[in-house]
Amino acid sequence: LTGTKYMCREGGCGACVVQAVVKEIGSGEKKTVAVNACLVPVFSCDGWDITTIEGLGNHREGYDVLQNRMVGFSGTQCGYCTPGMIMNMHA
Ligand code: FES
Repeated sequence: LTGTKYMCREGGCGACVVQAVVKEIGSGEKKTVAVNACLVPVFSCDGWDITTIEGLGNHREGYDVLQNRMVGFSGTQCGYCTPGMIMNMHA
């Protein structure tokens, strides 16, 4: 899977954003959040349900409405960080 990328590795650019469903500490309630993957130690992901850009859509099975809108309205420049932007909006 090559959609999620990294650039700054310090939480500034957003190229690495993925969606995660996590349990809230205390209530145990599940919550969907956007996460800067470059800032998350892999051991803290235990029990998380993580979705990357490939989980939303692709050219074979069809794209998510956010992906189609981004392309349809020319919402990207080079496209490097676009998967992170899409995942941030989706989460
Ligand atoms: Fe830039 Fe994660 S690599 S925010």
